[in-house]
Amino acid sequence: MSGHGTPIPMTSSPCGPLSGVAEVPGDKSISHRSLILGAMAVGETKITGLLEGEDVLDTAKAMRALGAEVIDHGNGSWSVHGVGVGGFAEPENVIDCGNSGTGVRLLMGAVATCPISVTFTGDASLNGRPMARVTDPLALFGTQAVGRKGGRLPMTIVGADEPVPVRYEVPMPSAQVKSAVLLAGLNAPGQTVVIEKEATRDHSERMLAGFGAEITTEQTADGRVITLTGQPELKPQVIAVPRDPSSAAFPVCAALLAPGSDVLVPGIGLNPTRAGLFTTLREMGADLTYENERLEGGEPVADLRARYSPSMVGVVVPPERAASMIDEYPVLSAIAANATGITMMAGVKELRVKESDRIDAMARGLRANGVEVDEGADWWSVTGMGIGNVPGGGACESFLDHRIAMSFMVLGMGAQNPVSVDDGGPIATSFPIFEPLMTQLGAKVSRD
Ligand code: S3P
Repeated sequence: MSGHGTPIPMTSSPCGPLSGVAEVPGDKSISHRSLILGAMAVGETKITGLLEGEDVLDTAKAMRALGAEVIDHGNGSWSVHGVGVGGFAEPENVIDCGNSGTGVRLLMGAVATCPISVTFTGDASLNGRPMARVTDPLALFGTQAVGRKGGRLPMTIVGADEPVPVRYEVPMPSAQVKSAVLLAGLNAPGQTVVIEKEATRDHSERMLAGFGAEITTEQTADGRVITLTGQPELKPQVIAVPRDPSSAAFPVCAALLAPGSDVLVPGIGLNPTRAGLFTTLREMGADLTYENERLEGGEPVADLRARYSPSMVGVVVPPERAASMIDEYPVLSAIAANATGITMMAGVKELRVKESDRIDAMARGLRANGVEVDEGADWWSVTGMGIGNVPGGGACESFLDHRIAMSFMVLGMGAQNPVSVDDGGPIATSFPIFEPLMTQLGAKVSRD
């Protein structure tokens, strides 16, 4: 696949103890939402700890193209002068969301009920991903979408001139779809209702309430029913973005695998809709503790301490946990390869429509490194070889997927021979300091 600049081949070699403090960047989901809701408020929203990865920077550019003033003060500190709900201006050019499914899907929702037309595109990975899951519910508001065959980008969203509120049951567990509908509902009169059978990350709901929208969530027999009252005046906020649990997953898992390691990963959001990986690792017998548990900005936060864990065992990861760790299955599979026994992961078909088909991408690379993997449409399993017994030595493809690239780098840290990926470039989309941070802990990650 192409479309992300010159490939950056990378290799990760077996390493000794990892130690020290791993300060991972801000949460990607919360960073996108801070910029978008900041742009839909009236006045200045101040953000600290913003993730300055390519995905979020593309969203910042998009907000400028739609008329908001977005200022980078340096060091993760940003401000956004919003245009108010319904106030977006028609951009002069195509909006390029790069690699980011979250960026484009949230933005489609945000513009869907504004009387403007916006054309979106992305890189080769994003332009292959399904958008009908968002444009189908947006059509209920009166929004039109014209894209390539199969509902693919590039795609033009023609915003509804006179939007109507909708009631929509999200057919797959997807926070992006839920959030797109809620963002569209902001500029529709009356109440927009979104129902989700399985709880997905709830950052949009929390942040909409923080910005002063009238929003309620009720747990019913049909699932979570979220009701949003349209056309509020959103009030600007001061937002401290917590560190990203999905990025913390990499130094945590690396420490579990590299002999003698003891790593502290401070200030990690442990919102229950995001923390499924850590629960699973503890069930496997990982030496992973939560220190200094506290609440920050309404989100549960802790310092994670991960130590070398030579006796992890395979587990069955229950399907109902999938949404809370959907981005973490790739790195979990690197851990599973080093556990004793089989790890079974079911209810995970959404993994097939991420930045890559993540089951296929991991299965290929794990097999190339001597690990046995079985898979079906909605499940996969990894046969553990016991700690330190993965042969390694394999060449893997990252398929323009940051999390695939980082997962193979973690695999290499605990394998018998180095593991390489054809392109680590996409790591910059979500974790631009991955290499220096891991190197500083003692890992041997190099560009070939
Ligand atoms: C995200 C939702 C998830 C996740 C993605 C971020 C979000 O995607 O995989 O990395 O910020 O809403 P889906 O909504 O497709 O499950």
